[in-house]
Amino acid sequence: MDKLRAGVIGLGMGGNHLRGYLEHPDVEVVAIADRRDDRRALLPGQYPTFNGKIYHEGIEMIRHEQLDIVSVAVPNNQHKDLTIAALESGANVLCEKPMAMNTAEAQEMLDTAKRCGKKLGIDFSYRFTPQSRAMKELVESGILGNIYYARTVWLRRRGIPGMAKNNFNTNSGAPMGSWFFNKAESGGGPLIDLGVHRLDLALWLMGYPEPSCVMGSTYCALAPELTRRQGLDYTVEDFACAMIKFKNGATLELDASWASNIRENEQMSTRLLGEKGGLYQYNLNETYRYDVELYQEIDGRQYDTKLHTPCPEPPGAFQLFVDAVRDDTPFLVQPEEGVTVMRLLDAIYESNRTGKPVIF
Ligand SMILES: NC(=O)c1ccc[n+]([C@@H]2O[C@H](COP(=O)([O-])OP(=O)(O)OC[C@H]3O[C@@H](n4cnc5c(N)ncnc54)[C@H](O)[C@@H]3O)[C@@H](O)[C@H]2O)c1
Repeated sequence: MDKLRAGVIGLGMGGNHLRGYLEHPDVEVVAIADRRDDRRALLPGQYPTFNGKIYHEGIEMIRHEQLDIVSVAVPNNQHKDLTIAALESGANVLCEKPMAMNTAEAQEMLDTAKRCGKKLGIDFSYRFTPQSRAMKELVESGILGNIYYARTVWLRRRGIPGMAKNNFNTNSGAPMGSWFFNKAESGGGPLIDLGVHRLDLALWLMGYPEPSCVMGSTYCALAPELTRRQGLDYTVEDFACAMIKFKNGATLELDASWASNIRENEQMSTRLLGEKGGLYQYNLNETYRYDVELYQEIDGRQYDTKLHTPCPEPPGAFQLFVDAVRDDTPFLVQPEEGVTVMRLLDAIYESNRTGKPVIF
């Protein structure tokens, strides 16, 4: 079999896509594209096995290369156009989260993927961790029984992307005053950036139930002053919370922040309450490592069971996407799920704007 021809657009988070493809035996990474000179210059040192073509513009790469796989890892306001161009060129696309700026864009991407008969995957990375995969298997075993409530959280104390200096904590390589806090380029703040991950994780574990009603609030309490000190404009929320009710009767609560007055620098958790058991995933010591606990009552006694880290690493998003394209099998994240997440994010922003619940 010929190797699949892959190309990556954007070398921030896209660097992880590039590394993943370079490690896959059935892929040849024939090209990358990035607008930043510094990132293109670092390629030979950071990715020594890459020897493909280098473009400045993603659209040029799509036009000139006949690609089987394109990764789209650029600011959110470009996801739709680059994804559609890549799908129409005949490529399968792995697009970064959030899928798009809003539901209408996400739906257009989904419709294009269907029309072109190509795969469109969304990189909801936190599904791919060994802990999340173990949780999904536990839920599917029926050990929790009916899940009636979930709470999913990603809170940072001072973690605005692109402001890694001094008292700011962030893992982004984006520059100071970057697109992340310009609503026209990002579509929103921590809700669309961090909340999207924890929202997808909880929905996936709950079986993506059909939403019936959303009540949401967003705030911008700390970031304007924090960014003004550095002479930067800030046009998105710094905290968001929401309650989502589903047609099956379940409820999900969500919190997300880049800046909030809490103890931890970085707090992530997802809790599921079922009629037979409860499941709780949380990050360890403010890092990106996790434990999972299962709570049960057996014969009138309470038991706590802990899934320790590390556990065997399942294949990651990039390997699984290549496998899905090569074997024509479903990828772990379906574009319909990306659209549902966008509907919920839109509803949270809309509920905040009107002060009323959004009924589906
Ligand atoms: N899945 C995750 O955990 C995760 C983590 C971080 C970021 N992301 C997502 O990845 C995307 C990129 O975020 P980032 O942190 O890498 O941002 P970034 O600003 O660090 O990197 C984006 C890169 O894209 C390049 N670029 C922009 N437009 C381009 C174009 N038209 N053609 C070629 N190159 C172009 C820029 O030069 C830049 O180097 C966002 O959608 C973000 O939400 C996902």
